[in-house]
Amino acid sequence: MSGELWGEWPKWGDDGRWGKWGQPKEQSLTQPPAQSTPHPGIGVRSPNATGPLPTIAFIGGTGRMGVHLCAAWAAAGYDVTMCSRSKEKAQKIVDELLAGRGYEEKVMQGAISVPPCPADGWKLRAGTNDDAADADLIVLGTVYEQAWAMLEAIAPKIRGKGKLILDMTNPFLKRPDGYGSGLPADGPQSGIEVHKQRLADDSVRWVGAYKSVLWSLVLPTGPKNPDRPDIEVFGDPEAVAVVSELILMHGWRPVVRGGLEVASDHEGGIPSLSKIMGNIYREFTLGEKLSVGW
Ligand SMILES: NC(=O)c1ccc[n+]([C@@H]2O[C@H](COP(=O)([O-])OP(=O)(O)OC[C@H]3O[C@@H](n4cnc5c(N)ncnc54)[C@H](OP(=O)(O)O)[C@@H]3O)[C@@H](O)[C@H]2O)c1
Repeated sequence: MSGELWGEWPKWGDDGRWGKWGQPKEQSLTQPPAQSTPHPGIGVRSPNATGPLPTIAFIGGTGRMGVHLCAAWAAAGYDVTMCSRSKEKAQKIVDELLAGRGYEEKVMQGAISVPPCPADGWKLRAGTNDDAADADLIVLGTVYEQAWAMLEAIAPKIRGKGKLILDMTNPFLKRPDGYGSGLPADGPQSGIEVHKQRLADDSVRWVGAYKSVLWSLVLPTGPKNPDRPDIEVFGDPEAVAVVSELILMHGWRPVVRGGLEVASDHEGGIPSLSKIMGNIYREFTLGEKLSVGW
């Protein structure tokens, strides 16, 4: 299944409460947006949205993806908690960002580099990884091999509460620090399915996204390369709708690939000829402009 959610938005229940929506529209199987379609703009909500934005907590939020995405989501109007094993470590980064100074840090394979930008009105705070249990949308954004321990630690607090979990971990993305060696052959072949199986909480709605987007391309002003703004999304429809709006709200475009059954095709770090050819084919025939590291 392939398609997009351009123009399709999350819904909330008549009582205006988060997580009590009507059935989301069936996922569109239509073509991605024509390149001439104007983006609604950073921080612009759907005309259909009647409920509050979800609160977000980013587990592993002081890392490369974490700092860039927390800044981008806060700039788009979301209430974001940058979570860490050390709240003080996150607080220092949050303080810099809230002061409008951006944030710079040399890291493996490059730098965390959020340029200075006004942060008036940003709802960004620091927290511990345990604080993530309070958020509507919990982001698994540390290395795959450490993510389950973080999630397991908050499992008793979130069980049965209908959380949304955005999993951006890549078990197969090889890194100089040794992470990324993959998964045992005798289980699910995607990180998100492993996490879902281990958590075993039917109330959770799972979504995978951002798995192939290089951290340094995510800026509070939108994609660093505006010509390649597309991000693959897959998972449970309610969570896909929420994260599709999130992606649009910070200046990118969601391309929905399907449910969790397609996860292993869309995690980062598993190059294959068919994947590359499929991306090229969809780029030329459907106008997709995936951001897959450039
Ligand atoms: N880098 C990319 O461009 C990219 C793109 C798409 C998806 N991803 C995926 O996103 C996830 C994060 O990638 P990243 O590059 O942002 O990672 P990263 O910068 O290496 O680390 C993220 C954070 O994880 C925490 N962490 C490190 N070691 C830990 C440990 N042993 N136990 C618990 N937490 C630990 C650290 O936060 P604290 O010290 O504050 O706790 C660190 O800041 C990975 O699963 C990766 O595959 C990355």
